[in-house]
Amino acid sequence: MKVLAVVGAGKGGNTDALVNAFVQSAVKVGQQAEIEYLFEKKNIHGCNGCYICRKTGSGTCTMHDDLTPVLKKAAEADVIVLASPVYFYNVSAQLKMFMDRTYAISKQKMEKS
Ligand SMILES: Cc1cc2nc3c(=O)[nH]c(=O)nc-3n(C[C@H](O)[C@H](O)[C@H](O)COP(=O)(O)O)c2cc1C
Repeated sequence: MKVLAVVGAGKGGNTDALVNAFVQSAVKVGQQAEIEYLFEKKNIHGCNGCYICRKTGSGTCTMHDDLTPVLKKAAEADVIVLASPVYFYNVSAQLKMFMDRTYAISKQKMEKS
């Protein structure tokens, strides 16, 4: 199985430690696992609600930024792990941007499962 862990936290913190423990365990049992660190990405944007992904059925987002390759990996993954610290009772802004942008791939992913 392909596992993608998307981390909305800094490297070396509690979230990172938990994600790394999870990924190491997944690799140990033979899964293919990869981590994407959103804090390292400088050019990321939230969903602008254009709905073009749904209207065209393309399954791709019209916005092109540093989240584009992450969304492609998420579309191909069997398991997506979302990891974030609590920031004001919520996930971090970077992870929320990623979550909203998965709207573009969510229809295809639901049909696949
Ligand atoms: C912007 C910001 C908002 C935070 N909001 C909360 C909060 O609402 N509740 C809480 O318990 N901790 C809050 N924290 C503390 C972090 O969740 C905590 O330090 C966490 O361990 C950080 O994760 P990390 O070690 O992976 O960086 C906040 C920290 C920051 C920087």
